[in-house]
Amino acid sequence: MPVEEEDVEIPTQDASYLLSYTRHLERQTKRLEKEKQVVEGERLRLQREVNNIRSELERLRAPPLFEGVILEYLGDNRAIVKSSTGPQLVVNVSSKISEDQLKPNTRIGLNQRSFAIVEILPQSHDPTVRAMEVENKPSISYEDIGGLKNQIEEIKEVVELPLKHPEIFEEIGISPPKGILLHGPPGTGKTLLAKAVARETNAKFIRIIASELVQKFIGEGARLVRELFEFAIENSPSIIFIDEMDAIGSKRLEIATSGDREVQRTLMQLLSSMDGFESRGNVKVIGATNRPDILDTALLRPGRFDRLIEVPAADEEGRKEIFAVHLRGLNLAEEINIDYLVKKSKDYSGADIRNVCIEAGMFAIREKRTQITMKDFRSAFDKIETERKSKDNDSLDIFI
Ligand SMILES: Nc1ncnc2c1ncn2[C@@H]1O[C@H](COP(=O)(O)OP(=O)(O)OP(=O)(O)O)[C@@H](O)[C@H]1O
Ligand SMILES: [Mg+2]
Repeated sequence: MPVEEEDVEIPTQDASYLLSYTRHLERQTKRLEKEKQVVEGERLRLQREVNNIRSELERLRAPPLFEGVILEYLGDNRAIVKSSTGPQLVVNVSSKISEDQLKPNTRIGLNQRSFAIVEILPQSHDPTVRAMEVENKPSISYEDIGGLKNQIEEIKEVVELPLKHPEIFEEIGISPPKGILLHGPPGTGKTLLAKAVARETNAKFIRIIASELVQKFIGEGARLVRELFEFAIENSPSIIFIDEMDAIGSKRLEIATSGDREVQRTLMQLLSSMDGFESRGNVKVIGATNRPDILDTALLRPGRFDRLIEVPAADEEGRKEIFAVHLRGLNLAEEINIDYLVKKSKDYSGADIRNVCIEAGMFAIREKRTQITMKDFRSAFDKIETERKSKDNDSLDIFI
């Protein structure tokens, strides 16, 4: 800032002038001092900013950590961990981390080179990165399910009613089942049933595929199951749907491999999570399997999956209704002979029936039509039958 007064000539004799000039200089000094303070403040602020940017830069340059979980704390700042890269390792623990944070199943960050535990990571509840699939309101309703009337009734009674009217159960003094097991051959509508009931009750639908738990998330199955239940309770009313239950729920055999131990740990966690919440609460667990015969009986005890609902392959009547569901949305050129479709689809599952409708539509598209004819359905059956035969031959080849 320019200081004009510096140019003023200093008179030597005039005392009063000198006095006023001194005052003037004093004011000037004060002003400059204030200015200095402001500039100093500004300098400090900029210095802080530089420091922040520097540390941010350092943070960005730092090598990434490996993610892992603690299996066991050994004491003396050493722990057994399972790193997401695969192996189980005995590693050191940074002195910044206190002993009581080192509980089994805690998520941790591992140094890339030494694999030392350098950070405790927050428990993940982000369903998009973890094994869960979450739907707020599935699009499937009971009307989209063909046949299965008794199954729908039963599931309404044991899942829908307790979620919608818990007071009825409280008043009578009984506890509704916590867990339901849907069992039956592939493609018969088990997943559809679970989705429909979630939609009807406005419950969050949380789906987990048990085989993925043990294959894709090796070493994390037990923790994921625990997190799954925590997530469901936090977000209740909710329905946990465990598909392919047999992958973690098979009968316990002599334990041989570490993979078996992993499955075992996951199953134990599932059992204890099932025991750990109120059956009158608004979380329900639905399991599905094609192989109920191989399930561990511990899973089927009261308070766990104690209600079994069979979802069998559709009979003629059932197939008729499933065709009706799938024909509903199609642009048909003529009246479709449903009896013919039902007869042709003797051992077809619901999923196969949907496939017939899709194939028929594809034949129409190939001929640049926008409407599906009876002939398209015949072609669809022919195509599917041929495919089935070649598949059968392929599987026979294995034995030859
Ligand atoms: N009863 C049914 N009514 C209408 N569509 C059905 C029915 N069953 C199966 N489908 C059709 O087949 C598809 C697969 O069905 P779904 O996923 O419910 O079978 P699933 O019993 O869960 O089979 P998996 O045991 O292989 O998991 C559904 O998306 C639906 O289009
Ligand atoms: Mg399914």
